[in-house]
Amino acid sequence: MDTYSETAELDPRKVEQFAGKIMQDIGGSMALLLSYMGDQTGVYRALRDTGRCDAGTLAEAAGVDRRYLAEWLGAQAAAGYVCHHEEDETFSMTPEQAIVLAQEGHPACLQGFVQMIVAQYATYEKAVEVFRSGAGRAWGDHHACCFCGTDRFFRPGYMVNLVDSWLPALDGAVAKLEKGAKVADIGCGLGSSTLLMAKAFPNSVFHGMDFHAASIEGARREAEETGLTANTRFTAVTAKGYDETGFDLACVFDALHDMGDPVGAARHIRESLKPDGTLMLVEPIAGDRLADNLNLIGQIFYSASTLVCTPASRAQEVGLALGAQAGEKRLAEVLRQAGFTRVRRAAETATNMVLEARP
Ligand SMILES: C[S@@+](CC[C@H](N)C(=O)[O-])C[C@H]1O[C@@H](n2cnc3c(N)ncnc32)[C@H](O)[C@@H]1O
Repeated sequence: MDTYSETAELDPRKVEQFAGKIMQDIGGSMALLLSYMGDQTGVYRALRDTGRCDAGTLAEAAGVDRRYLAEWLGAQAAAGYVCHHEEDETFSMTPEQAIVLAQEGHPACLQGFVQMIVAQYATYEKAVEVFRSGAGRAWGDHHACCFCGTDRFFRPGYMVNLVDSWLPALDGAVAKLEKGAKVADIGCGLGSSTLLMAKAFPNSVFHGMDFHAASIEGARREAEETGLTANTRFTAVTAKGYDETGFDLACVFDALHDMGDPVGAARHIRESLKPDGTLMLVEPIAGDRLADNLNLIGQIFYSASTLVCTPASRAQEVGLALGAQAGEKRLAEVLRQAGFTRVRRAAETATNMVLEARP
């Protein structure tokens, strides 16, 4: 591959090709912001439920301005997010468009991810400042949409995998959970993973812990609304600061790499487990080398890691800054430094890997 120099000859075809790629990304970034507007105003849901209709009917159904909606529909039809029918100037959604853009809770619905990205654009000045200075940026310092967007993004994957695949992949965990186990969910955020497990295993008690007080309040509210207060406890506390011990199972979902001191946190978790306890560590899927991760999933996770995960770690003591693409080898090293002796990959999906660690 040629590298840049002032005297290097430009290949106009390659310039055009590369500019074309960037134009695609620019189109995508505009489509996402408009998609967020469609999500928040209920336009997608109205189009899905009303069925094929014109802009005026849809404006009425969704309660939005008709003129703006006409421009929005033009942009969305051009992006392939909705369908345009020229013969009668109507619009509709295919079942696939409806699921990905409007079916809250469906594993293929991507609106949570869209919301997370919009939250990053909303505070771009802070992102530039931190990137330049190298300062940390606390998890709680992000736009509020970052927290619910993260939860909306991760929850469908947990709904599909956690109870049916990930827990059964751990040695003996389900039998303990059915009988009655004590479980910690550390860095639980809004508590979706905690509540899913609590619903599936009513004989067990689940302690959701996170140092972000607003998320813990949200988790408590959700527990009340879903009638799951009997076997859940939510506490605002750091991963190294909780006092409870005697856990049969500890889980960390997409949070260890966000911590400043993942070794210290994993050590504290190990000390809080029973001698035959298990740590289930769920982390973004990644290969061990940068070259392994130069694909779409790697691009997305390295981006989130630049904006959120690495600065979140830097904002805490130690500030190890593992990053969201640490890979199994590096994560296993962290766990061994923390005193875990047996570490293995128990399961994986397109976006996550699940490591089982035993004291
Ligand atoms: C990417 S979010 C994941 C949240 C949740 N586990 C989920 O999967 O939706 C990372 C979470 O880790 C929490 N966190 C980061 N560092 C922490 C620490 N040192 N102690 C406790 N929680 C921490 C953050 O507050 C945040 O809720």
